[in-house]
Amino acid sequence: MASTTPKLISDKNEMRNWSRSMRAQGKLIGFVPTMGFLHMGHLSLVSQARSLCDVVAVSIYVNPGQFAPSEDLSTYPSDFHGDLRKLASLPGGVDVVFHPHNLYDYGNNSGDAVVEEGGAAASCLESLGLGHESWVRVEKLEVGLCGKSRPHFFRGVATVVTKLFNIVEPDVAVFGKKDYQQWRVIQRMVRDLDFSIKVIGAEIARENDGLAMSSRNVRLSPEEREKALSINKSLLKAKSAAEDGQVHCDKLKNLVIQCITDAGGRIDYAEIVDQNNLRPVEQIKGPVVFCIAAWFGKVRLIDNMEINLSMDD
Ligand code: PAF
Repeated sequence: MASTTPKLISDKNEMRNWSRSMRAQGKLIGFVPTMGFLHMGHLSLVSQARSLCDVVAVSIYVNPGQFAPSEDLSTYPSDFHGDLRKLASLPGGVDVVFHPHNLYDYGNNSGDAVVEEGGAAASCLESLGLGHESWVRVEKLEVGLCGKSRPHFFRGVATVVTKLFNIVEPDVAVFGKKDYQQWRVIQRMVRDLDFSIKVIGAEIARENDGLAMSSRNVRLSPEEREKALSINKSLLKAKSAAEDGQVHCDKLKNLVIQCITDAGGRIDYAEIVDQNNLRPVEQIKGPVVFCIAAWFGKVRLIDNMEINLSMDD
């Protein structure tokens, strides 16, 4: 049983040693990577890890590798002490919070603070001039959906998650299905690169009124928040239309786009894609997921809904 106050670790070697000593005691290690500013959605991932494993580590690290130079890394919200309180209040708590200062500081910087070329995929990491030059890419899954407007994003995520997996050495890692593409990218990476880690996709945690939980929700004004409810409402409508026999994706997409734009949202993308390869489909013939990104004021929200029709009739 974990003590309610998690052990805080910031050093990579100490983190690895902790995991190795747990494994030597025969304990199954669960892991939830986060960037902090935790909400109930994160806590549900931690509870799932807790239910599957003997010990649980949570990382809190805002990764410069997944922010574009145009995205403001320094204003990413944080509430470290609040996060610790929330984690400690969970039944069983968590065992370790891994909170590294800089995961890309290798202590031997050559001083070549050059802004390296990253092409379309350049991130804030290059501008730190730390000499990091190894990236993990999941070449096909990373390009569509959020990858279209954020070409730097998934290589940054896959790379930092690889680093975290190599440091924490978990048996089980839990990711939220709200970030559906991220979950699929990590699953594919784990399969392709033979990580010995079971990746769990946890169902989307929603507020009572259906809004998917997200750290960004606090930036919505009350009016924008009300308008943003159109995302879940329209996805539910599309799902039930599909269940009633409407399998033409154009029709389903129009329904959702109309509903969100009528409410005052601005669509970034509305795509119905195959659940496994995330390629757009024209007609629903198997398991698909309807993925949405939409702006409400200055806040970009993502959400999705899996549609699993029985194809027997
Ligand atoms: O989902 C997130 O919070 C981040 O993308 C992750 C997985 C912690 C990697 O930085």
